[in-house]
Amino acid sequence: MTIKNVMVIGAGQMGSGIAQVFAQSGFHVYLNDRDDKALAKGINTIEKLLTRAVDKGRLTEEGKAETLNRLTPSTNLEDAKLCDLVIEAVVENMDVKTSVFKQLDTITPKHAILASNTSSLPITEIASATNRPEQVIGMHFMNPVPVMKLVEIIRGLQTSDETYQTIEDMTHQLQKTPVEVNDFPGFVSNRILMPMINEAIYTLYEGVASPKDIDTVMKLGMNHPMGPLQLADFIGLDTCLYIMEVLHEGFADSKYRPCPLLRKYVKAGWLGKKSGRGFYQYD
Ligand code: CAA
Ligand code: NAD
Repeated sequence: MTIKNVMVIGAGQMGSGIAQVFAQSGFHVYLNDRDDKALAKGINTIEKLLTRAVDKGRLTEEGKAETLNRLTPSTNLEDAKLCDLVIEAVVENMDVKTSVFKQLDTITPKHAILASNTSSLPITEIASATNRPEQVIGMHFMNPVPVMKLVEIIRGLQTSDETYQTIEDMTHQLQKTPVEVNDFPGFVSNRILMPMINEAIYTLYEGVASPKDIDTVMKLGMNHPMGPLQLADFIGLDTCLYIMEVLHEGFADSKYRPCPLLRKYVKAGWLGKKSGRGFYQYD
């Protein structure tokens, strides 16, 4: 199947990165958000990153202009009627995601593939909101999308081999490395990463060390590029909490219990870098 037109839904940190990578790889991309301001911010982020690539000599001015020409901002989900592939990157909440997929199922052409960038939610359940579960798949990009090479491709119970193959080929076209994963809570990436982040939050909660010292241990002691608390702020504490809740509920195992401090911060609106405050403060 040939994919030309792509819609990315949600212009937050993941959606804007996904849209940028597709546009840079020659696809025509609609970047959709229900919030005008979030959409403008997403487009602005892409423009800045492309300008940086030009300054660094990785992209020509012409390449930047062509990439931006392939990008159409959208606040109307009906634009998906022109798309061969839709990638959803809205909040990590099953009700919101299934509502988006229900609408997409009626709007998009019959051949279109519907993908979710969910970090942890079951693809099989998202697919059940549509009448085309064989064309629903997980395409899990890593943050920051323009930099990170990995894409976890998640097969739902009914995902067809043809859909899988199209998305795997597409991932190579985006210059990323695909990994095939079955539909389990948190897949591979967040089943391993998020309990480590949650444990770092417990370490802080129990007064073992300061945020900076906890992060220094993991950066200098384990060679991680970011400490776990800095990484949690970067991912978004709301997203971290939702992922821990999916693991806790999905495996029914107390080892995945979200740290009460994480809950408290999210309740306070301390969502990390995107809200200006998390374990650290940002200007
Ligand atoms: N968006 C786009 N590009 C970015 C970026 C961003 N948010 N942040 C940094 N970059 C680019 C920079 O532009 C820079 O490239 P150039 O200088 O060539 O333009 C390059 O990345 C390196 O940046 P820096 O030198 O400023 O900083 P760094 O060397 O510390 O690298 C980093 C930054 C790549 C983000 C690095 O700190 C890192 O790898 N951190 C860990 C990231 C990680 O673990 N991601 C996975 C999160 S979990 C996930 O995504 C799954 C989930 O479901 C939650
Ligand atoms: P974000 O909060 O930065 O952005 C979400 C965007 O979706 C917002 O701009 C919001 O306005 C928009 N939105 C919400 N509901 C919408 C709807 N019904 N229609 C259109 N737009 C809508 O979130 P994010 O960090 O980009 O995460 C998005 C998804 O990607 C989540 O499922 C998350 O789990 C996943 N993810 C996140 C990361 C990460 O590191 N943050 C990594 C991989 C995957």
